[in-house]
Amino acid sequence: MSQVEVFACSEFSLAISEIAPDKSISHRSAMFSLLACGTSEIRNFLRAEDTLNTLEIVKKLGAKVEDKEGVIKISSDGIQESPDILDCGNSGTGMRLFCGLLSSANGHFILTGDEYLRRRPMKRVTAPLRDIGAKLDGRNSGDLAPLSIRGASLKAFNYESKIASAQVKSAMILAALRADGVCTYKEPELSRDHTERMLKGMGADIKVDGLLTTIAPMKELLSPLNIRVPADPSSAFFFAVAAAITPNSSVVLEGVTLNETRIEAFRALERMGANITYELTSDKYEPIGDITVKYAPLKAITVEENISWLIDELPALSIAFACAKGTSIIKNAEELRVKESDRISTVVKGLLACGIQVDEYEDGYTVTGGTLNRATIDSHGDHRIAMSFIIAGLKCGMEVTDLECINTSFPNFFELLQRITEVKFN
Ligand code: S3P
Repeated sequence: MSQVEVFACSEFSLAISEIAPDKSISHRSAMFSLLACGTSEIRNFLRAEDTLNTLEIVKKLGAKVEDKEGVIKISSDGIQESPDILDCGNSGTGMRLFCGLLSSANGHFILTGDEYLRRRPMKRVTAPLRDIGAKLDGRNSGDLAPLSIRGASLKAFNYESKIASAQVKSAMILAALRADGVCTYKEPELSRDHTERMLKGMGADIKVDGLLTTIAPMKELLSPLNIRVPADPSSAFFFAVAAAITPNSSVVLEGVTLNETRIEAFRALERMGANITYELTSDKYEPIGDITVKYAPLKAITVEENISWLIDELPALSIAFACAKGTSIIKNAEELRVKESDRISTVVKGLLACGIQVDEYEDGYTVTGGTLNRATIDSHGDHRIAMSFIIAGLKCGMEVTDLECINTSFPNFFELLQRITEVKFN
């Protein structure tokens, strides 16, 4: 399955209950089980490459994992040294959070990843962790994987991060849980807060006051997790864009996390004119509910605030920009350059190939709405680029190559897409 041809769709109206489970929460639920006394139970765990790699690493770190009838049960007697290299695959979240978790664990650990992950910057976690005593190293003075970690005792810290990154925040919170005193972490803008919510739910002493998080070291192991992972808003968003750009169409996306730090892209689509409603159905660790998106003519917007709240959805949102009236602007999004691909470059190249007027800047780009044309788009090994341009194909037909990456986050993407349109694999 290295190439797909997608055909333009006609109007549709459907409810989807099988959106892929949330990637961020799935990673964390497996990792945090290592900090619990007793057995954690995880329902609706994302069975995609990234999160299955994390689960495999959790096993290699000595946890007992039972996977029966859709429930994953994890119990651990504390993190054990592994004789194997720990392979995070394509996942920045996996690698960066494990850096924080393993910095204080007894033993020596090697983290690696695929060719894309081995090119992504790790200094954002290795530098602050080294500053508090972690023994971490890697290529390019600790910036590039493979990374080696020798567990050490960590000093309490007051760290002020220059980037709004949940991965950096989470790595530092995990380190703080075993530091030698109370720690604080400040971020420039609130990033997704699953780590704080989940660890607090497990009994950790974590206080959040605006952008400042205060973490007391763990006195004892935490209570086990008992969680059902909600659907991933960044995966659901592909189908939200599909409905928003297809006249007379609508979609109900069921059981999605409604955490405000995750649904900003839906808010942006609303600002563009799409008709969107949210219905809360449950609230444990996270607010969860159904999101309904209905087509309406779209207009251009500027996106420049709370970028980390919609960073993962910007490629798909850019397809909506291409279908809107006027010129949309994305600013302050330089973080896009260090995702699974340089997403400023891959989105700009893709839209240009489809005949859309785009201007590229260091920290973003502008998109002038027009008529999307069928093209052949290379995903550059980036799942979100592949799926975004496949959704663009609902307008005009599209060929997208290098598709394996979709399995890192949304293995049933094509199954759901086929409810809307015809696809042909070459
Ligand atoms: C994630 C945080 C975000 C996001 C990534 C998942 C997480 O990255 O882009 O897909 O689970 O913490 P940054 O924290 O680097 O912004």
